Amino acid sequence: MQDHQPQSVRVERRAVSEQESRRANGPDWDRYADEYQATHGAFLGDAGFVWGPEGHTEDELQVLGDVTGLDVLEVGSGAGQCSRWVRTHGGRGVGLDLSHRQLQHSLRLDAETGVAVPSVRGTATALPFAAASFDIVFCSFGALQFISDIDIAVAEVARVLRPGGRFAFSVTHPTRWMFPDDPGEPGLTATQSYWDRTPYVEIDDSTGVVSYVEHHRTLGDWVRLLAGHDFRLTDLLEPEWPEHHDRVWGGWSRVRGRLTPGTAIFVSELAR
Ligand SMILES: C[S@@+](CC[C@H](N)C(=O)[O-])C[C@H]1O[C@@H](n2cnc3c(N)ncnc32)[C@H](O)[C@@H]1O
Repeated sequence: MQDHQPQSVRVERRAVSEQESRRANGPDWDRYADEYQATHGAFLGDAGFVWGPEGHTEDELQVLGDVTGLDVLEVGSGAGQCSRWVRTHGGRGVGLDLSHRQLQHSLRLDAETGVAVPSVRGTATALPFAAASFDIVFCSFGALQFISDIDIAVAEVARVLRPGGRFAFSVTHPTRWMFPDDPGEPGLTATQSYWDRTPYVEIDDSTGVVSYVEHHRTLGDWVRLLAGHDFRLTDLLEPEWPEHHDRVWGGWSRVRGRLTPGTAIFVSELAR
């Protein structure tokens, strides 16, 4: 769930189409990008690869394996920190993001670090790449939970991957959906059904326009989605909150992290 909430929004749970989700989330990330990078940029690292608010890095978890000489696509790449890490480790990292402003931050970091990530503006549901172009596709809290047409997005990943290619992604742990998005004690009491997939929607009070959308899938939904597109699930990581980690990121905190998982990292391979 959202780690920022402009003051003048009304929160609802209701069905929203892919078009509505995208029309809301692109401008929302454009508005939020400067604050996001100012708040989280140092934690992410300009050429760092963090899998979630718990702070576990790719160096630590080795989800992607050796990327040397591989073509690697990051979907929902933001300022391209993870893809920059891929580039510094010998991979050909490429980014894709819906938000123009996030991509401007990516260009800024390209110039500041001297490590450029070729990036394109687009959506995860229509990847502008030829079939079988990549060895690895990944998202670190990128695109996936903002998408309504998730079947199309996963089909797109399968299309652009080479045979046996790897697809790894982190999302808010599905069990978090049951709890209020509060980093404190109130965030520990289940108040909503885990099985209710009705999207989380913010509506701008002044215009009545949907300004932010997030979609929920259960653990079973994700497994079924991957299996349905010929992916073989090879791991599901549920990183524990590190003992000395005291950073609050939206609803993620030590208070909740020591009791419930905040991040799920799915690791899979194309079985064709
Ligand atoms: C939480 S940020 C994560 C970015 C980066 N991985 C990071 O750790 O900072 C989510 C990103 O997904 C992008 N996004 C949202 N919906 C998308 C879509 N349909 N297609 C591609 N990117 C999308 C947003 O613009 C945003 O940059």
